[in-house]
Amino acid sequence: MSTTDTSDVTTDITTDTSDVTSEATTETSDVAETITETAVTITIDGRSVAVPEGATIGAACNAAGVNTPTLCWAENLTPVNVCRVCVVELEGSRALVPSCSRIAEQGMVIHTDTERVRHSRRMVLEFLGSSVDLSQTSDLHHWMDIYDADCDRYSEDDHDAKRVDEPVKIQDELYIRDYSKCVLCYKCVEACGDDAQHTFAIAVSGRGFDARISTEFDASLPDSACVYCGNCVAVCPTGALQFKTEYDLRQAEQWRPEDQTVTRTVCSYCGVGCNLELHVQDERIVKVTSPSDHSVTSGHLCIKGRFGWQYVHG
Ligand code: SF4
Ligand code: SF4
Ligand code: FES
Repeated sequence: MSTTDTSDVTTDITTDTSDVTSEATTETSDVAETITETAVTITIDGRSVAVPEGATIGAACNAAGVNTPTLCWAENLTPVNVCRVCVVELEGSRALVPSCSRIAEQGMVIHTDTERVRHSRRMVLEFLGSSVDLSQTSDLHHWMDIYDADCDRYSEDDHDAKRVDEPVKIQDELYIRDYSKCVLCYKCVEACGDDAQHTFAIAVSGRGFDARISTEFDASLPDSACVYCGNCVAVCPTGALQFKTEYDLRQAEQWRPEDQTVTRTVCSYCGVGCNLELHVQDERIVKVTSPSDHSVTSGHLCIKGRFGWQYVHG
């Protein structure tokens, strides 16, 4: 009898404690949610969208299912606002605003498909398409079709609108630079600099039509500060920077992404634990990338993980 009583008491106490703990946890979690998930509500094309405080208009567009073109934006880089292909109309703002970087504020009213937005995006795409080779920038072709961009209308018989006319730089066996495809999006500069590698081997040199990405004093890559992490190649949206393996296959008209498999694994060179994506075509590794949303790498690797795979093929 006495044992049973004790057991009942214990059960009651345990139950009570558990209830108290559960209530406390719920309250704490509610507070945490209030602190970290304060929402701002904006209107996009007539629809009301709530996003966490600090989110960009571009993120709100995604949440609302509104596709927006981007070129210089990447989820693993700081926005630099240079391409302006993502602009949207913000009521009350004199100028169009870049959706990739402008933070959403409570009550904003955004229009993404007005004639002014379409005209601006079309102009940006036409300027880019008339001045550099976008043949390997497949995402933009989709948007060029949507906005009916005519990239030839700035070229005349006696006037070539090309911004950069220089041979492909092939200075090693790891990656090539073809600046006739460069849109000056700064992604490679950011990845080489304080967004990832902190090597600062490249920057924009020159002005206007002569502006181009360059190493210090235009030194060849092996003589420059480059450490061959390949992070610049991974973020380049146009093929201006390209792994040599991909470049060679393209030259031989054998680059077939549709026939490639991508296998995710963990780099075995050191203990950091970077995730690698091995792109394999015809049973050979053709390039190595890393997921940009991975907590360890944010898409960035070092030379060993990026290029140290040749031994696999003997
Ligand atoms: S080389 Fe590529 S990543 Fe660098 S600025 Fe040009 S297009 Fe952008
Ligand atoms: S990619 Fe470089 S840093 Fe990452 S695990 Fe491999 S060797 Fe280490
Ligand atoms: S993607 Fe927004 S300015 Fe380039």
